Amino acid sequence: MARVGQLASLANRTYTRVEMTEVSVAPENLETTEAWNGPLFEIWQDFQAVVVSNAKAHGDAALVDHHPEPGDRVLDIGCGLGDSAVQLAELAGPKGDAHGVDVAERMIAGAREDAARARVENVSFEVVDVQAARFTDTYDYAFARFGTMFFANPVVALRNVRQALRPGGRLNMVVWRRKLDNDWLHRAETIAEQFLERPEQYDDPTCGPGPFSMADADTVTDVLKHAGFEDIQLKRQDLLIRTGDNLEHAVDLVMSIGPAGEVLRLWGDRVNEIRPRIRAALLDGMADMARDDGAYADSSTWAVRAVAPEYGDPDRLAALLKSAGPAGLTSGS
Ligand SMILES: C[S@@+](CC[C@H](N)C(=O)[O-])C[C@H]1O[C@@H](n2cnc3c(N)ncnc32)[C@H](O)[C@@H]1O
Repeated sequence: MARVGQLASLANRTYTRVEMTEVSVAPENLETTEAWNGPLFEIWQDFQAVVVSNAKAHGDAALVDHHPEPGDRVLDIGCGLGDSAVQLAELAGPKGDAHGVDVAERMIAGAREDAARARVENVSFEVVDVQAARFTDTYDYAFARFGTMFFANPVVALRNVRQALRPGGRLNMVVWRRKLDNDWLHRAETIAEQFLERPEQYDDPTCGPGPFSMADADTVTDVLKHAGFEDIQLKRQDLLIRTGDNLEHAVDLVMSIGPAGEVLRLWGDRVNEIRPRIRAALLDGMADMARDDGAYADSSTWAVRAVAPEYGDPDRLAALLKSAGPAGLTSGS
């Protein structure tokens, strides 16, 4: 399915460049796919304990008052390494199931391995670009834990999700709120910017619209309306998260992911000389986040809830009205 290509070099690390060969990916999502299947996959894996536990903290908060019911068929969008899909399968119980989809083959391979090891039977995984997807199954509930912010065209992708839901089916997605309320990422970016701007030229793939693309409440509401959802509600979730085993670990993380991490990654080996100075400035500027048992920071997300209309697919309804409406009126008059 995937071909392993050359080793691309990043500062202090190399990553495996994997080319997708058989998965249908929207052309405008190819770069993001390469990023999530290459450098971001490897960073995600290296920092898995921290990034997944923080994602889970926000995901769990979103599930408290808006969870799948026993017997539900659940879709997990951008499921990554799959722990949330396993959790959703457990919530759906033996009469329900969960299907995790992700555009990165290596994420799905990891998810399948973990689920098999845990012997979870009512979970399945598939490599899918949600924006290019034609879901053939129908779901009662769709969940996304930071899995919907990277689509080049979120309206098209979320319309696909809405069409995969039964009438009345529910969406629950967790997305980052604005950078200013996620100080560990914002502060790291501000410090890194004292040394570097985003390079004009780079070879490395980027993650497209990026983690804060759904931070604005009006924007995300409009996206969902255009995707055909209704009853859209946003619930703010503020949580203290553990960003590393210690301050050094937390600084390694922000030098790898998020806005500062992306700029550093795009510069790659070209900034090796100033890397130690940036790291020293981050250690200094983030020192207040260190505690005895790790580094901690405030973080903020939206739990975004929406419902697929009870009367069914609004696109199909509009098309039916358009074709039947005027003709019906004239023939009846
Ligand atoms: C920030 S990670 C979150 C992973 C997981 N949900 C978690 O909480 O651990 C975002 C995920 O979205 C996936 N993704 C990005 N674009 C996608 C697309 N167009 N279709 C499906 N998945 C996508 C990435 O491959 C990645 O695994």
